[in-house]
This record gives sequence, C-alpha cells and structure tokens, in this order.
Amino acid sequence: MPDRYAVIGHPVAHSRSPWIHAEFARQTGQDLTYEAILAPLDGFAQAVRAFRDAGGRGMNVTVPFKQEAFELSEARSPRAQQAGAVNTLTFEHGRILGDNTDGAGFVRDVEENLNFALGGRRVLLMGAGGAARGLLFPLLARGVAHLTIANRTVSRAEELAGIARAAGYRDVAACGYAALSGERFDLVVNSTSVSLAGELPPLPAGLFASGALAYDLVYGRGMTSFLRWARTSGAGRIADGLGMLVEQAAESFWLWRGVRPATRPVIDRLAQELPPVD
Ligand code: ATR
Repeated sequence: MPDRYAVIGHPVAHSRSPWIHAEFARQTGQDLTYEAILAPLDGFAQAVRAFRDAGGRGMNVTVPFKQEAFELSEARSPRAQQAGAVNTLTFEHGRILGDNTDGAGFVRDVEENLNFALGGRRVLLMGAGGAARGLLFPLLARGVAHLTIANRTVSRAEELAGIARAAGYRDVAACGYAALSGERFDLVVNSTSVSLAGELPPLPAGLFASGALAYDLVYGRGMTSFLRWARTSGAGRIADGLGMLVEQAAESFWLWRGVRPATRPVIDRLAQELPPVD
C-alpha cells in the first residue's frame, strides 16, 4: 500500500498540490498517493483525525484552516510557532506534528529561483494578515537590512513589528500606505488579498530602488493588479507566487520523505498551464 497524503481546505478543488506532489513522487520514485480533502468549515479537526486514523501519513493545510491546524498540533516546529500557523501536518505514532513551510518556500523561491539575495536589502511587506506573519521571521532571519510593514489597518502592522522587535530585530517599522511616500525599497512583497479582487492598495510613486523586485504572493491569475502597477512604476523585476507554491510543497515533501525533488521543471510545467504573469 502506498503512503497516503492529502491537502485539506475549503475550498480545495482549485488546489494544485495534488498535481505537484504527484510530480514530485514520480520524479523521486516515492510510492505515495496525494489527494484533496474538502473539510466542512466546522469540521476541520474531525477530518484531520479521520484521515490520520485511516492510515494517512501527513497533510498540507490551506485556507482557511492554518490557524486551526496550529491549535490542533500536539507539537510544533519553531517556524510554525513563529508563523502562528501550520501548513504541514505529519502523523507520527498517532501524534499530530505541525510545521510551516510557507516562509522557507518564499525564501527559496526569491533567493534560489529568482537569484535575489535577501541579506542587506530594504524590504517592504504589504499586508499584516496571516500571510505576512508567515514571512516575517523568514525574511528577518535572512538578514534584511530593514523591514517596513505597511497595512491599511496600521495597528495590525504595528502588532507584527512589535513581535519582530520583541524577538530582537530592531530595524522593523510599521505604517500605513500614505506614509511610504519618499521611501525606496529593493524588494516589495504584496501579501494582501487585494490582488484577488483586482484592486491595489493606495501606493505612492517612487517605491522601487534601481533593479528592485516586486513579488506578489498570488499566482496563476495572469498579471495581478499589483504586478502590473509595479512594472509601470519602476520595478526592475516582477514575480508571482507560483515559485513559492512549488517550493513550499517541496519543503513539505522533504519533511515527509527525506528527499528533495527538483522544483524547476515543476514550476515550468505549471507556468505553462496557468495564465502567464505577463
Ligand atoms: P491572509 O491570511 O491571506 O493574510 P488576512 O489575515 O485576512 O488574510 O489578511 C488580509 C490582508 O489583506 C490584510 O493585510 C488586509 O488589510 P487589513 O488588515 O487592513 O484588513 C489586506 N487587505 C484586504 N483587502 C484590502 C483592501 N481592499 N485594501 C488594502 N488592504 C486590504
């Protein structure tokens, strides 16, 4: 019997994870199955336990259950603890172990795939929700020179900056979008959900330093409103979140199987199937 894995979410039908993990398994010769499980909004824990009890070995967790997965985990990795959310569950002797591979996936995509070293950079993180929180410590741990968190609701940005400062990172600022006027960044990351609605936070002109990278966590929807804006506003390069999606999956696969799949061919195949970023 092959080992069983799954992604659990609501909705989940759109998830590319089953395809990605099937590719990884084929490529590395691992004997496993990977399915998509739609959990009712009030039935997450029950669905996880049912999958575990049926012999499941691990699960990826997607919206809106990452916080619930954190609560449900009986032990958590340091990076899950820092993210305050869990996207990868491993069942070990019946115990539910929680980890978070989103931040590692982001860093790997930016540094390895896009060849953009984070150390010493001035970074703007737009948004202060769960997605932003997941990137906070991974970015800081790479030694960025300065991190500004901008959010519509400034108090949420301040809360995240406070968490970073409490952990000893001093070069972290929080503000609203208007206060960004006159500032310049090497990397601007959009972690807000506005791209999903085709909208844009009220960003001032002149945000991008020479050769700056604009990165949208959203993927596969063609050119996002943020990336379109970035391209005409001085960004040197733009990238959507497709690479991060594949890299976080690869990190989960490695956790479960102890094998690192090659991500490039998987990213390339997906990029061909999804609408291009430009
Ligand atoms: P996620 O887990 O995806 O981060 P979230 O926690 O709901 O989701 O956070 C959504 C983010 O998108 C927040 O930063 C939110 O800003 P607020 O904290 O001010 O709500 C941001 N966002 C959503 N819609 C927005 C809009 N129309 N304009 C600006 N920011 C928006």
